[in-house]
Amino acid sequence: MVSYKELGLVNTRDMFAKAVKGGYAIPAFNFNNMEQLQAIVMAAAETKSPVILQVSKGARKYANATLLRYMAEGAVAYAKELGWENPQIVLHLDHGDSFETCKDCVDTGFSSVMIDASHLPYEENIALTKKVVEYAHQFDVTVEAELGVLAGVEDEVSAAESHYTKPEEVIDFATRTGCDSLAISIGTSHGAYKFTPEQCTRDPKTGKLVPPPLAFDVLHEIEAKLPGFPIVLHGSSSVPQDEVDTINAFGGKLPDAVGIPEEQLREASKSAVCKINIDSDSRLAMTAAVRKHLAENPSHFDPRQYLTPARDNMKKMYIHKIVEVLGSNDQA
Ligand code: G3H
Ligand code: 13P
Ligand code: ZN
Repeated sequence: MVSYKELGLVNTRDMFAKAVKGGYAIPAFNFNNMEQLQAIVMAAAETKSPVILQVSKGARKYANATLLRYMAEGAVAYAKELGWENPQIVLHLDHGDSFETCKDCVDTGFSSVMIDASHLPYEENIALTKKVVEYAHQFDVTVEAELGVLAGVEDEVSAAESHYTKPEEVIDFATRTGCDSLAISIGTSHGAYKFTPEQCTRDPKTGKLVPPPLAFDVLHEIEAKLPGFPIVLHGSSSVPQDEVDTINAFGGKLPDAVGIPEEQLREASKSAVCKINIDSDSRLAMTAAVRKHLAENPSHFDPRQYLTPARDNMKKMYIHKIVEVLGSNDQA
């Protein structure tokens, strides 16, 4: 058993309470490799922002679960080396799919886990979430749960709406499970194609797709039912058009990729939404820089040559999110 406290990590409890009160949101950035982690830590240290390092099932498979945990431990030491005296860093399991995976993370140094049983029938979601909460809380590890199903790009708008979190269920769910935060569905979804072109309108000036707005009415109803309770938004990448254009200009093919407009995330950050998940924007920033660098420098083959601009571009994106969108700078 390794406690996250020995690793210098923190859980989400105080961080979320402060964020809800202060009207900002904590960035939850996924990482799969060293360059992403370096860029996240540099951005958080430079802006003095609390940060959540997220590890998905796919990341554990790709990079090795043990290695990722040691990397997170290293992140705390690295943050201090960068001059961040009291780093507020959470190591969080993203989309945990079983009690066993959550337990394994609690036992090996994670300070926060998500149990995502949102696809199960309501009572089964409650039972599994409660089991994880009971285990995790013995070790002061915080638990994120999910209620409502995030839309996939294949869903019609009407089907997507029918999967929104039902505000009438949140009090019962939060009370019976004892979860520390709740991921809700209000129209965000994972990946770089969050909406089909048919679900969007086109800006007549730029020809770019304009997605339908998030369901702020549902968010506000949930806030009213659970005043001050920490709410989480998954699938919150903005899919910056300049990165998509760079990728497409240098041999990529990402037609009609579209994300959540930043103004809407800015607005959400001021509410009870206190954790915003971003993964795809990091992938886009990295890929755009690598494609551009290799196209412009065909003789380069040392990964450090193309991963340096990739890391710089991710760091720039993370700082932008922290300072211009979530408002979590100078809070740690
Ligand atoms: O929510 C999903 C995250 O973007 C992680 O994606 O499972 O491909 O690592 P992944
Ligand atoms: P994006 O695909 O929008 O970056 O969402 C990431 C996420 O929700 C991770 O859990
Ligand atoms: Zn997610």
